[in-house]
Amino acid sequence: MVYALLKALHVLAVVLWVGGMAFAHFFLRPALATLEPPQRLRLMHAVLGRFFAVVLWAVGLLLASGLWMIGRVARQVVQGGGSFAWPPDWVLMTALGLLMMAIFGHIRFVLYKRFSAAVNGQDWPAGAAALAQIRRWVGVNLALGVVVIAIALLI
Ligand code: HEM
Repeated sequence: MVYALLKALHVLAVVLWVGGMAFAHFFLRPALATLEPPQRLRLMHAVLGRFFAVVLWAVGLLLASGLWMIGRVARQVVQGGGSFAWPPDWVLMTALGLLMMAIFGHIRFVLYKRFSAAVNGQDWPAGAAALAQIRRWVGVNLALGVVVIAIALLI
């Protein structure tokens, strides 16, 4: 029951994070291309600020629930007299998940900060450059997220 609950929270965090990236990348950004830079960049700044604040919680939940599930399984195996070995799909998920989290940290704490400074200073060329970098890294994380989901469900 606890394990199922942890897994449900884990998957909900994935849905929010990966689904939100897909929405921003494939639907929101292209739809805003017709707006003038000041309007477009201000709107993207407001949207991404809200999204990244929630993703920060989702990432914490994802990591905590994932490690907790591993801990529970390891304890059960050891209590049953066996020795715990990480299944290969869990190793891959953890490694790629940590990479995604590091990339998210770069997006949120380096690139978004740069983007905020440009928008607040009304420096639209610098804002557009920072947003282009955010878009590139969100694209990388989106691709990694799809790979991790495929590993989790197919291996
Ligand atoms: C470093 C962080 C992570 C850790 C430690 C972790 C660990 C785990 C563990 C132990 C399970 C349970 C597997 C089972 O019961 O068979 C699980 C399930 C799952 N994880 Fe992760 N995970 C992490 C990150 C991610 C990320 C980043 C994604 C996707 C973007 C993801 C997607 C999934 C999915 C879809 C499942 C459900 C698989 C199923 O029900 O068969 N995980 N994770």
